[in-house]
Amino acid sequence: MIRALILGASGYGGGELLRWLADHPSVEGIRGTSRRHAGQPFGAVHPNLTKLINGEFDAEPDWAWLHDCEYPVVFAVMPHGEFAPMYAAWPDGFLGEATVIDLSADFRIADPDLYADHYKKPHPCPELLSQWNYGLADVSPPVDSRRIANPGCFATALQIGLLPLVGQDVDFVAISGVTGSSGSGMNPGEGTHHPTRAHDFRAYKPLAHQHMAEVEQFLVERDMPLEVSFVPHSAPLVRGISITIQFRRPPGWSSESIAELYENSPFVRVRPELPRLLPTIGSNFVDIGAVTQGNLAAIGVSLDNLAKGMASQAVQNMNLALGLLETTGLWSAGGHPG
Ligand SMILES: NC(=O)c1ccc[n+]([C@@H]2O[C@H](COP(=O)([O-])OP(=O)(O)OC[C@H]3O[C@@H](n4cnc5c(N)ncnc54)[C@H](OP(=O)(O)O)[C@@H]3O)[C@@H](O)[C@H]2O)c1
Repeated sequence: MIRALILGASGYGGGELLRWLADHPSVEGIRGTSRRHAGQPFGAVHPNLTKLINGEFDAEPDWAWLHDCEYPVVFAVMPHGEFAPMYAAWPDGFLGEATVIDLSADFRIADPDLYADHYKKPHPCPELLSQWNYGLADVSPPVDSRRIANPGCFATALQIGLLPLVGQDVDFVAISGVTGSSGSGMNPGEGTHHPTRAHDFRAYKPLAHQHMAEVEQFLVERDMPLEVSFVPHSAPLVRGISITIQFRRPPGWSSESIAELYENSPFVRVRPELPRLLPTIGSNFVDIGAVTQGNLAAIGVSLDNLAKGMASQAVQNMNLALGLLETTGLWSAGGHPG
């Protein structure tokens, strides 16, 4: 049985992890830390979990409790840049047998120069990057891995949407995306606070979103000389990510090839049109579809940023890493309508 310890359990991602893990049949115990809410029950911060999960936030991780089981798993769900120095300070061999899954961007990029280009600062511990495996669960599953970097939410949608173009004669794609407010975490900032975005729609970080580092890594690994232009938008939604990739259709390429590509992926649902967002919300499913018109083509991808783009994909990665059935604890739909 698994014991799961969540570092940063009071945030949006921490709450979502608690929600998925509470329902996981192989998880016998869950503990979670919060500096601000230590001693309070989980339900005081995440009211949706009241009666579903007992326990309270710890000020500090209880490592002895974690170790006292067959399969210890740590989920780090902290703001970008907070986990890497903590991990670097762990003594050699500490948590050696545990599976550690980081949901931040700290260990996603194997090349420290690529990291520095996109995050505008040097990586704090480049010598540790080689310990980590990038876990894009539906594309490059982390089997037998004990250090897993969970992908970014936009990066998940972008890579799943670009995979049908591997090996195709396409040299440029233009991608437009939208995201909801929960993507920025629980602390409001000037551009993310509800009143500034609830009735607005705007582009942000045009051509310069940090998740392009993951896309660049994906393209290099697949030897794809593809130029990608990506403009994300902040939409009046709470959850959800939707992207549309537009390109000149290569000879012989049809939208049906996507169904073949993903036929063995339980959580990738191929739609006969560009996918809606709502059917993915609250679930680990990612919906993809394409349309073509003459020489033009468009691929759409939709997912829930807090679930498939974050917490439920981390649970899928845990299942894969520990040799469990991939769908364990995850085979459920969101609500319809919303
Ligand atoms: N939101 C998304 O859609 C999404 C999707 C994919 C990946 N991510 C990534 O996942 C991570 C968490 O995102 P989130 O949206 O859950 O953020 P969040 O809502 O801001 O939560 C952050 C959590 O980290 C804790 N924390 C902050 N600084 C800490 C420190 N120095 N030491 C220990 N705990 C600390 C906070 O709790 P206390 O202050 O109470 O300790 C809180 O529980 C980020 O790296 C984010 O980029 C987010």
